[in-house]
Amino acid sequence: NNKVKISPSILASDYANLQSELERISTSDLIHVDVMDGHFVPNISIGAPVTAACKKVCDVPFDVHLMISNPLDYAEDFAKAGADIICFHSECDSDTEETINKILSLGKKAGLAIKPATPIDEVVKYLDKLSMVLVMTVEPGFGGQSFMESTMPKVEAIRKINPDIDIEVDGGINAETIKIAAKAGANVFVAGSAVFKSENPAETIAILRKNAQD
Ligand code: DX5
Ligand code: ZN
Repeated sequence: NNKVKISPSILASDYANLQSELERISTSDLIHVDVMDGHFVPNISIGAPVTAACKKVCDVPFDVHLMISNPLDYAEDFAKAGADIICFHSECDSDTEETINKILSLGKKAGLAIKPATPIDEVVKYLDKLSMVLVMTVEPGFGGQSFMESTMPKVEAIRKINPDIDIEVDGGINAETIKIAAKAGANVFVAGSAVFKSENPAETIAILRKNAQD
């Protein structure tokens, strides 16, 4: 079985208190940074300067999710900001292969994301170069949406093709839906609201991890 990793999304955190919010999730395996450009998705979140500031006060590896139209042009900024994994969307305007090569040349791990309606063929052809595939379980753009179980056959299909790669799911993950995604073969779990809206994020992370392993 693949190692279970919990990746809380700081999109759901209090941006006025990022350092203390990062301390609340210090037991997580990864930190998920949602970058939105108001163009690829209809919302604007944070960019490389805020990512760099967070990295300075946090030892957990950063899983940066670029929901932007031109990831090729920004990969270097996020590499410099301290991203460990740089994940971008197959539906973006940049050339996929060129962008993967760029991320790898910057010494970072590359991840490729697909929206709910995008077929797995768009990621399968690049699996050899990728550390992670991100199967969106909501339409990207906003936190707090409901998990789309209809995306699970894609997780199952990718897992069948590659037993070792990290498969991440993102959107609507909570203590219940994480079981469904884990059963389908996902092993990296983004959770925004479930973690940050809870009283005790460390306990929530532990529950998520346990439910994913059962
Ligand atoms: C959606 C983002 C997600 C989001 C998840 O576009 O990619 O990472 O923050 O938030 P929850 O867990 O609240 O659905
Ligand atoms: Zn995300």
